[in-house]
Amino acid sequence: MSGQVNQAKGTGMNHDNYVIDKLISAKSIAARVETLAREISEHFADTDKLIVVGLLRGSFVFIADLVRELGLPCEVDFLETSSYGNGTESSREVRILKDLRGEIQGRDILVVEDIVDTGHTLNHVIKLLKSRNPKRLEVCALLDKPSRREVDISASWIGFEIPDKFVVGYGIDYAQRNRNLDHIGSVRFLDQK
Ligand code: IMP
Ligand code: MG
Repeated sequence: MSGQVNQAKGTGMNHDNYVIDKLISAKSIAARVETLAREISEHFADTDKLIVVGLLRGSFVFIADLVRELGLPCEVDFLETSSYGNGTESSREVRILKDLRGEIQGRDILVVEDIVDTGHTLNHVIKLLKSRNPKRLEVCALLDKPSRREVDISASWIGFEIPDKFVVGYGIDYAQRNRNLDHIGSVRFLDQK
């Protein structure tokens, strides 16, 4: 508990050999989410219903904040793809672990992703969802690491462009930890003793 408080201040070290340096504050995230939601609401203003598809698990905090700022009728669904496992490097192989509950044919879809890194995940997900013939499909990603891209893909809306650093917080994890930080921080590994 106290470790989490320290991390939230950006000063603490948890029980592994890394510290978290603050990169984007909770306040900056909230302001950006408001702007993104406004732009998305304008884009889909004529929709009868927007289906917001969150990619689990990293987007769960972002999607919760985003949908509450959308001025549109919407439904929320989730898709889970295979992850990094417990490392910090992408496997490049994308598998669907949990599919959508609902049909998306003829619907307006907004895919919500936490980070676009190499682009393999988004590329795979977009291809899959487009094969189901939605009416419109757009992507909103909280973070983008353009310098890491291996596939030519981009999101319609990006929260923040970040450098090639491994980040945690605001739903994003390192080995399933630190998702509950209210801000985004970068992981800095310390030397092993
Ligand atoms: P991509 O397929 O390489 O674009 O990877 C995208 C996924 O990798 C994201 O949805 C994240 O779940 C995960 N990921 C990429 N960078 C980071 C990071 O810095 N911290 C935690 N997870 C990350
Ligand atoms: Mg992810």
